[in-house]
Amino acid sequence: MILVTGGAGFIGANFVLDWLAQSDEPVLNLDKLTYAGNLENLASLQGDTRHVFVRGDIGDTALVERLLSEHRPRAVLNFAAESHVDRSIHGPEDFIQTNIVGTFRLLEAVRAYWNGLDDEAKAAFRFLHVSTDEVYGSLKSGEPAFTELHRYEPNSPYSASKAASDHLVRAYHHTYGLPVLTTNCSNNYGPYHFPEKLIPLMIVNALGGKALPIYGDGQQIRDWLYVKDHCSAIRRVLEAGRLGEVYNVGGWNEKPNIEIVDTVCALLDELRPRTDGQSYREQITFVKDRPGHDRRYAIDAHKLERELGWKPAETFDTGIRKTVQWYLDNQAWVAGVTSGSYRQWVETHYA
Ligand code: NAD
Ligand code: DAU
Repeated sequence: MILVTGGAGFIGANFVLDWLAQSDEPVLNLDKLTYAGNLENLASLQGDTRHVFVRGDIGDTALVERLLSEHRPRAVLNFAAESHVDRSIHGPEDFIQTNIVGTFRLLEAVRAYWNGLDDEAKAAFRFLHVSTDEVYGSLKSGEPAFTELHRYEPNSPYSASKAASDHLVRAYHHTYGLPVLTTNCSNNYGPYHFPEKLIPLMIVNALGGKALPIYGDGQQIRDWLYVKDHCSAIRRVLEAGRLGEVYNVGGWNEKPNIEIVDTVCALLDELRPRTDGQSYREQITFVKDRPGHDRRYAIDAHKLERELGWKPAETFDTGIRKTVQWYLDNQAWVAGVTSGSYRQWVETHYA
C-alpha cells in the first residue's frame, strides 16, 4: 500500500480518488482535517476497504511510527501542508509547524522505518514530496520559465516554509540516502478546490451575487494546471522518477488573473446566466494588493516530458469548463465548506 498525507485536501483527495480509480493498491490516508481537509471530498469512497483514513498530524511521531510499522507502505507521498499564501501572511505559525517541523518529523519517522526494511523493500521504497513553483520566487516579464535549476527565492511565509521542507527532503537523500523524489508544481484548479483560492472563490462569489475581488491591477500571472494532470504527473514520477531528482510540473498555460476571472464570468454567463441579464463581469472589484505579491510564475516542464513522457491531458479551455460545471453540479459541497470558520476568514481578510 501507499501512505498519502493530506489526502482530504484539494490535491490529495483528487489524487486518492484517481489512484483508486486506476489501481487496487490500497491507500492509507493520514490527514489532520484542518479547515482545508474535508472528508466530503472522499465521500465516494465510503465502504471501500482499499481506503483507510486516519485523522492525525504528520508531526505526531508516535502515530506516524505506528502507522508505518502496522501498514508497511512501499511509498509515502507528502501532500500535507498549510497551503494558502494569504493565510500565511496573516499568521505564519501554522505554516512553520506543519510545512517545516511536520515534514522534518515525518522524514525522521520514515527514515527509521526505511532503515529497518530488508534490502529489496529498501530499494523499492519511495518518499515523494509534493511542492510548489512558489519556492522559485517571482519572474519578470520575458524571463524564461522556472527550470529545476532556478535558484530558490521564496517571498511569502508559505513559500519560505515550502522551500525549507524541500531542502530537508533533499538533505535526507544526500545525507542518509533516503530514496526521495520532489515535484514542484504550478497553480492547480479543478474539483474540490477550497473557495479561498482564486478560481473557486470567483465561481462561488459570482453565484452568490458577491463582489469578485481582484488584487492590485489583476495583471499577476500564474501557470494553471488541471488538478488531475498534476495527479498523473505525481503517479508518473513515483513510478519512474530518478532518485533524489526534482521534477517541475506545469500546464504551459500562463494567464493574468484578470483573464482567468473574465473566462470564469463568460462560462457562468453561458451556463447559469444572471436573472437580470447582466454579465457576472459586473461583479468584478479591484481591491488592495496582497503584500509582497509575486508578479509572475511560469514552469518549464520539459524535464518531466523528456525523461518520463508526461504531458498535461487538459487544455485550459477544457479544464476550466469542467471545473465551472463541477461547481454548478456540486452546490451542496460548496454549502458545506462555506460555513463557520470559512465565513470568518472571508470577513477578516477582505475587510
Ligand atoms: P489544501 O490546503 O487543500 O490541503 C492540505 C491538506 O493537508 C488538508 O487536508 C489538511 O487537513 C492537511 N493537513 C494540514 N496540516 C496537516 C498536518 N500537520 N498533518 C496532516 N495533515 C495536514 O492544499 P492543496 O492545495 O491540496 O495542496 C496540497 C500540496 O500541494 C501542498 O503541499 C501544497 O504546498 C502543494 N501544492 C499546491 C498547489 C495548488 O495550486 N493548490 C500547487 C503546487 C503545490
Ligand atoms: O503556484 C502554486 C501555488 O498556487 C500553490 O503552492 C499554493 O498552495 C496555491 O494556493 C497557489 O498560490 P497562489 O497565491 O498563486 O493562489 P491563489 O489562488 O491564492 O491566488 C492566485 C492569484 O490570484 C494570485 O495572484 C492572487 C490572486 N487573487 C487571489 C485571491 C484569493 C486575487 O486577485 N483575489 C483573491 O481574492
